[in-house]
Amino acid sequence: MKRLHNLLLSGVALLLLGCHGELSPESASPDIVEVPPGFPPLPVPADNPLTPERIELGRRLFYDPEALSPNGTIACASCHRQERAFADVLGLSIGIHGHKHWRSTLPLSNVAYAPSLLWDGSIGSIEQDVLITLLSPRNLGWSDTAAFAARLRSLPHYRTAFHRAFGTEPSAALAAKAIAAFVRTILSGNSPYDRFLRGDTAALTARQRYGLSLFLRSGCAECHRPPLFTDYQFHCNGLLAHYWEEGRAAVSRNPADFGRFRTPSLRNVALTAPYLHDGSIRSLREVLQRYNRGGYPVPTKDPRIRPLQLSEEELEALEDFLHSLTDSSLLRNPQYARPE
Ligand code: HEC
Ligand code: HEC
Repeated sequence: MKRLHNLLLSGVALLLLGCHGELSPESASPDIVEVPPGFPPLPVPADNPLTPERIELGRRLFYDPEALSPNGTIACASCHRQERAFADVLGLSIGIHGHKHWRSTLPLSNVAYAPSLLWDGSIGSIEQDVLITLLSPRNLGWSDTAAFAARLRSLPHYRTAFHRAFGTEPSAALAAKAIAAFVRTILSGNSPYDRFLRGDTAALTARQRYGLSLFLRSGCAECHRPPLFTDYQFHCNGLLAHYWEEGRAAVSRNPADFGRFRTPSLRNVALTAPYLHDGSIRSLREVLQRYNRGGYPVPTKDPRIRPLQLSEEELEALEDFLHSLTDSSLLRNPQYARPE
């Protein structure tokens, strides 16, 4: 039922958005968004160029429960919190009327680079994700997009802002574009690790540098590939004894994809506990210990996950290295913060 519901919502979202424009790196103006050194060019859909008016409107909506939810209680920022790298503190996030989501909230930085979204890659664009989120009963809970658009039109400051950003009256599809434009600007690439790569040798402690070498030697970077610390592919890392949902297999219908999830980025991972798609592991140390044991014997487990035989000291160094991926400027950047 859950899947059917999601499929229906995806269909609605695609209808509302029309066909998708090609992603073109050219349409990201460097004056608007500064891409961190060493990152690929920012992909931006041709039919939703980044403009200051769209980004500002998107930011306003992102933080505004009055505009975003029928009973005015919840907005994107309720689950995606800047001080947590735009993830959540909860294992499973709570939507409107206290409905629990069944997956752990994903952090929102460098999302522009993701070729597919969500833990199972079932969604193709941020615009589509916003529309699904608006209509999901576990999330913002609108009964239909017309009711949401009517809410926006009833708020005079939004009418003005939509005219400025799009030259027309508010609609759900345009709100999705504005919010997606804002989300695309949220980039994280200024952690101690990044400063170390740029030549600041003092940015990492000796133990963090040792942890970095263990990270590379243990094969972590094969899936958590720098600079984004993900390959955007689907793998089963076997860290759970039981998988309560199929993961990628629910999308692909291929049994070989059972228990496979999209590799999460490790940027800011120290701030995004609890871990894994179901938020069931509380600490980084516990994640690392399970990797060290080689995971559980799940049939679809990736063959690269095998016992590592790291000592307690080595695990500590590895964990220390993961802490060096925390970008404190992301957490403070006023461009991403709740507008005044
Ligand atoms: C009730 C909590 C909640 C609210 C409210 C919420 N989200 Fe999310 N968000 C989640 C969860 C949980 C996931 C992961 C879901 C999954 O993988 O199935 C997620 C995933 C995402 C992703 C995918 C990120 C990636 O790396 O694939 C984006 C983008 C996103 N949310 C944006 C938004 C925006 C924009 C809003 C407001 C319109 C919003 N979310 C509102 C909980 C929430
Ligand atoms: C075969 C690919 C692969 C390799 C190799 C790999 N990972 Fe992962 N990693 C994943 C996937 C996929 C997940 C998410 C699994 C899930 O949610 O069930 C994940 C999750 C994690 C998480 C939790 C992140 C979060 O936000 O929930 C951490 C931390 C992590 N890996 C660190 C490491 C470290 C350290 C290594 C090396 C010892 C490593 N990984 C090796 C694919 C991999």
